[in-house]
Amino acid sequence: MMDCTDRHFRMIMRQVSRRSLLYTEMVVAQALHHGRRDRLLDFDPLEHPLALQVGGDDPLLLAEAARLAHDWGYDEINLNVGCPSPRVQQGNFGACLMADPPQVARCVAAMVAAAPLPVTVKHRIGIDDRDSYDELLSFVDTVAAAGAGRFAVHARKAWLQGLDPRENRTIPPLRHDLVLALKRDRPQLTVELNGGLETLAECQQALEGAGVDGVMVGRAAYHHPLRWAAVDAALFGCTGTGTVKASTVLRGLVDYSDRWCSSGGRLWAIARHLVHLVEGVPGARRWRQKLTQAAVAPGAGPEVIEQAARQLEAHGT
Ligand SMILES: Cc1cc2nc3c(=O)[nH]c(=O)nc-3n(C[C@H](O)[C@H](O)[C@H](O)COP(=O)(O)O)c2cc1C
Repeated sequence: MMDCTDRHFRMIMRQVSRRSLLYTEMVVAQALHHGRRDRLLDFDPLEHPLALQVGGDDPLLLAEAARLAHDWGYDEINLNVGCPSPRVQQGNFGACLMADPPQVARCVAAMVAAAPLPVTVKHRIGIDDRDSYDELLSFVDTVAAAGAGRFAVHARKAWLQGLDPRENRTIPPLRHDLVLALKRDRPQLTVELNGGLETLAECQQALEGAGVDGVMVGRAAYHHPLRWAAVDAALFGCTGTGTVKASTVLRGLVDYSDRWCSSGGRLWAIARHLVHLVEGVPGARRWRQKLTQAAVAPGAGPEVIEQAARQLEAHGT
């Protein structure tokens, strides 16, 4: 998610779940060709398993992105066919590509040929008036034949004209039923449900009750990271992992923030994501204020994270 799932937020989530697959923000293939690759691609080895999400419509540039993803050590490359923003539409990628399944297939085939990495696709259930279930099936069939290994389906259509990106995440109704039908009708494909999943119980129901192969959580992970503290035990069968507390997350970030700040990074880049870590406990607001004040101060370093952890530990949080 743009402006959310940068490397720092991913490190935070990695303290919460060792096993969940994490995704980068969308990186535009053209920018990878021309831009500062280290800034766009670098990540911490602790972030694995990690998928690089890319946006683009040019098979040559996307093949290059797949090679770079492999060289950088990503575990997967994911093509964004779901973003409806005007800027992305201008570049002819994101959700508007759902109108051209053969082009998406050419992009996927080029990526598959370029690097030995799983190539996956994130898409909508439809766009504009191309929103019938048959069109969804036809899109998925065409792209699967090109070698896409998993379909992460945001269970909403996108209106490319008239709704802004935020409205396109709320106004078109959620149609989980269509994603479940897709899995039922194409049992050989790996189908991941996305959109509106708020709790671990809802994810378990989708996986075990409705039979999708995976679930993808966006906003509820960003805004409520600790809500997912039991995910490794519940979904991956990990035993003896103990309960992750807010203070455990912070302790897990001390060395990382030390490395980041020592290499010239600002602590705020990490701390800005921590404001959602503590919620629903007395004093949470005050804790957030203190952390924010300390983290924006010039020269702030890992001691701020340690101090914030100590404050929480004193309350057993
Ligand atoms: C701030 C924000 C940025 C997003 N950026 C991306 C993105 O870069 N790539 C992508 O595939 N989806 C992006 N999305 C969409 C989410 O991945 C997800 O499909 C959508 O929010 C529905 O899932 P949710 O209800 O679990 O959040 C973004 C969503 C938000 C709120």
